[in-house]
Amino acid sequence: MKSVASAPAKIILFGEHFIVYGGKAVLCSIDKRITVESELTTANNIEIESSLGRLAIPKSGSYKDTDLVFRPLAYIAQKTLEKFNSESGMRIRVSSEFPSGVGLGSSSACCVAAAGSISGLFGKLTKEEILKIAIDAERTIFENTSGADCTVCVYGGILEYSKDGHIRKLENAPNLELVVANSGIAHSTSKVVSMVRQFKDGKPEIFSSLCTKEANLIEDALDALQKNDLGKLGKLMTQNQEFLEKIGVSNDTLSSMISLVGGASYGAKLTGAGDGGCIIALADKSNLEKVLGALAEKYECFSAKIDTVGLEQRAS
Ligand code: MEV
Repeated sequence: MKSVASAPAKIILFGEHFIVYGGKAVLCSIDKRITVESELTTANNIEIESSLGRLAIPKSGSYKDTDLVFRPLAYIAQKTLEKFNSESGMRIRVSSEFPSGVGLGSSSACCVAAAGSISGLFGKLTKEEILKIAIDAERTIFENTSGADCTVCVYGGILEYSKDGHIRKLENAPNLELVVANSGIAHSTSKVVSMVRQFKDGKPEIFSSLCTKEANLIEDALDALQKNDLGKLGKLMTQNQEFLEKIGVSNDTLSSMISLVGGASYGAKLTGAGDGGCIIALADKSNLEKVLGALAEKYECFSAKIDTVGLEQRAS
């Protein structure tokens, strides 16, 4: 039997970085997926195959010795085989509809899809149990994760989230049209998070005042989302970008991409850790083509819709 699970890419509408220090974030999952297929084998190893390469590790080895790219998968496979006292080996295949390392949550989506797929070989876990495995797996490569990315990959839709575990899926959330554009600059989330920690430690008062402003902005954004007020939402995105610039996670490329869509979209900002990765711009049917056109000549970009499903699992 093969067990298949898929999880969506995510974008952070508001609150990246500030969430690590106790703030709220507003995230959504989008209609691009990572799929993980796993099966038990008679071999004595765990085989992993993805667009990032191939790997076979002995079942008895430690996931800690595995290359960072595959470490969360090795962790989930080893822990699950151990938990069920299984003598089997495992084959895992990963395929993705979106690029990795650009702020779209590929690592979290992969952890969630792998936790769903691999646990599905032995029975059915709840979404909460799968989320816990996925966050533990992500911590093998990014110890300080807020857990926000894995959470939205599991539940889908637009979520209000805080690190203490508060999760609220927005009911009747608008069906946003977003344009995602890739700067082509790869980044490391854990490095950017460390940069922000240095900023906070060096300028505690400025950071604390920005946290307060961000918290107020998020309350306004939640209100604008409930009212489907795209004009207000876009302005708040642009304002959030200014806060992100102040803490040093934007760069010239991201700023110039945001300027390119300034006139055409309702608003734009970087999404995720920053220092590279992607920007998002808010649009609707009236200006979608114009926003895409403003970016398409220089950058890989696509329009995205909210995914309301989150984690999906099936056996085949
Ligand atoms: C990364 O997608 C979002 C950050 O806020 C880190 C985190 O929440 O773990 C930068």
